[in-house]
Amino acid sequence: MFITNDIKYIGVNDHNIDLFEGQYIVPNGMAYNSYVILDDKVAVLDSVDANFTKEWMSNLKEALNGRTPDYFIVQHMEPDHSANIANFMQEYADVKIVASAKAFVMMKQFFGTDYPEQKIVVGEGDKLSLGKHKLTFVTAPMVHWPEVIVTYDSTDKVLFSADGFGKFGALDVEEDWACEARRYYFGIVGKYGMPVQTLLKKAAALDIQIICPLHGPVLKENLGYYLGLYNTWSSYQPEEEGVVIAYTSIYGNTKKAVLALADALKAKGCPKVVVNDLARCDMAEAVEDAFRYSKLVLATTTYNGDIFPFMKEFINHLTERGYSNRTVAFMENGSWAPMAAKVMGRMLAESKNLTFTENSVKIMSALNEESSAQVEALAAELCAE
Ligand code: FEO
Repeated sequence: MFITNDIKYIGVNDHNIDLFEGQYIVPNGMAYNSYVILDDKVAVLDSVDANFTKEWMSNLKEALNGRTPDYFIVQHMEPDHSANIANFMQEYADVKIVASAKAFVMMKQFFGTDYPEQKIVVGEGDKLSLGKHKLTFVTAPMVHWPEVIVTYDSTDKVLFSADGFGKFGALDVEEDWACEARRYYFGIVGKYGMPVQTLLKKAAALDIQIICPLHGPVLKENLGYYLGLYNTWSSYQPEEEGVVIAYTSIYGNTKKAVLALADALKAKGCPKVVVNDLARCDMAEAVEDAFRYSKLVLATTTYNGDIFPFMKEFINHLTERGYSNRTVAFMENGSWAPMAAKVMGRMLAESKNLTFTENSVKIMSALNEESSAQVEALAAELCAE
């Protein structure tokens, strides 16, 4: 598949994967992208997952059409992209391998060698000419590992963006970009908002017409939309007005209160209400929703003198990804010594710029008149802001 006259796609689709990175469900599979630039010199960008050696090598050979690669550019050392470095180097023994200093350290860790005879170490702003195509390397540490570089081709105005602008989902399945890109971003890159902001500032200085990420489709149109979303996500700002209610419920009483709150919010005209049962939904989807919307209600029970495990896991996901700049409310349930609200407040104490609602809901076993009134008051406060 040609991306431009000289740039070819040689990646693969993975529909056999059970969990990406050992934890994320990927209903539509995963794509591991790889590219070739055919010029006076030939450059290959990144490899693919270990299970796709044959397919990738075959794609590569077809794209090369009898030619031999001169450069192998390694932008990221996570094994979904780097697994075939040794296989590639065995096949093309004379190729020069181009990567950051940190990437070569990792290469030695993964493969026992950093290819001392063939390595070209590149850093910020270093250039590589392939003939017509002039490549510039831009460091992108912590997007998503420290060794990451991205590559700008000023001839075709292409940014090879590594994990940036990637998404879950194979390329032979049609689906909305933002939904699975957002879940990917907050799951995998979400902690690294500042490094993403730094990369976006560097990207703003470049004339980019095509983005070639390591996952997900090549982006050719309406790039402002994708760059805008990345700016919103990486600056930890809500993308939309709306209330997410994330809850756990053991026997259904907390759930009843949650549904009552959702109804009350809808009745008051709240623009968007999303309800996630943390024990049953995809946790990564719930994390994505929390970052997507402006307000979050956490509803859970007191459990073993603490909070229910799924809620604890959920809040940990939020805090370790820098959850901030939003409104948070608590609903708690406890039959003899409710303390869930206190525990949740403590867990979020270090999070920046959170506004906690004045109203909260305390359920003693089951909803009653008093706690139902608290639900109404909380709905009014969440709608009024
Ligand atoms: Fe797609 Fe961070 O690897």
